[in-house]
Amino acid sequence: MRIIVHNAKCQGHARCWAQAPDIFKLDDDGYILPGDIQVAEGEQLLASQGARSCPERALEVDRT
Ligand code: F3S
Repeated sequence: MRIIVHNAKCQGHARCWAQAPDIFKLDDDGYILPGDIQVAEGEQLLASQGARSCPERALEVDRT
């Protein structure tokens, strides 16, 4: 599973990071770092919860 990061949508709410700081890394201004996130097997639930917590829908879960 991976998280597709839509950086243009990120407004720096940091809810993803609050849910899973080891998965969602922010820059110094509190915006999600660019680039897709590969999620390890055991972290998929946490990662999808974090992605769903984004009010801007900047984090897309890709299970293909
Ligand atoms: Fe950005 Fe959404 Fe996280 S706005 S910092 S991707 S909660």
